[in-house]
Amino acid sequence: MQRTRRLRSNASIRALVRETYLRVDDFIYPLFIQEGKGIEDEITSMPGIKRWSLDRLSKELDEIVALGIKAVLLFGVPDKKDADGSETWDDAGLIQRAIKLIKTNYPDLYVISDVCFCEFTDHGHCGVLDGHVLDNDATLDNLAKQVLSHAHAGVDMVAPSGMIDGTVETVRNALDEAGFVNLPIMAYSVKYASAFYGPFREAVDSAPSFGDRKTYQMDPANAREGLLKASYDDLEGADILMVKPALSYLDIVAHLRENFDVPIACYNVSGEYSMIKAASAKGWIDGDAVMTESLLSMKRAGANIIITYFAKDMARLLKTET
Ligand code: PBG
Repeated sequence: MQRTRRLRSNASIRALVRETYLRVDDFIYPLFIQEGKGIEDEITSMPGIKRWSLDRLSKELDEIVALGIKAVLLFGVPDKKDADGSETWDDAGLIQRAIKLIKTNYPDLYVISDVCFCEFTDHGHCGVLDGHVLDNDATLDNLAKQVLSHAHAGVDMVAPSGMIDGTVETVRNALDEAGFVNLPIMAYSVKYASAFYGPFREAVDSAPSFGDRKTYQMDPANAREGLLKASYDDLEGADILMVKPALSYLDIVAHLRENFDVPIACYNVSGEYSMIKAASAKGWIDGDAVMTESLLSMKRAGANIIITYFAKDMARLLKTET
């Protein structure tokens, strides 16, 4: 008889044959930056995650650094919104001020900016509208302005998330022409029109005021289309390819891992976080164990990098385990 149980008989042998590990170095922690003063608001649907005003942010950053987390991804919750999201390319805009503050006070923390418009537009869509349709090429012009403004503020990496065609090419050209040849792009390459973003949209008040995002984000039924989109981003010069959400799309993570040699990231999104937190609060699941198991599944599928709201919880758990 073939016996696979031999190598499962005790903890020592199981540790010897373990194939996949989680490390704090794998994680990127998303941060919600809110305009204003004295703000430290817990997001109801995402227990443990807060919106921070810049004057309070050091409390969060000190904790992140102490836990050994090395990278953050910035999202903005502005006061003012307009049709084009013009604050996104204002050198004195919220994200630009956040980048400067973090890089000045925590120079070793790797700062990645989410490059999109939906948090800054009054209609909540990810770019310029032409009637009720997202105008792809007009949005590209604004994307170039936005990344340059982030680059001038000192960001370490940009992560365009709008699923606008031609994004990576536009962003790469803009950065190169301005001399930012060494600034990497993490492309939200395969981003699905997902209901798992629900809590995030509450967190940053970015739900579209009409319609949905299905003309730019991908149909959850499609896998080959994801490979095609990733191949365009790869050709256009993306340094890292990302899949979003993570848990329901691990097949896509594995496809990308097999087909490309650049690092692969996945985004463990708000709904995936909230479901585990909610079930755990009710005592229906063991929250730490389910968190560990899900993050491990992303690594096993082939992700090198995991963007996750669990970064602090997991970092704490990894500390107690070693
Ligand atoms: C769009 C953006 C979204 C998220 C990150 N960037 C959501 C959307 O398309 O509405 C979702 C993140 C999450 O759910 O955790 N700029």
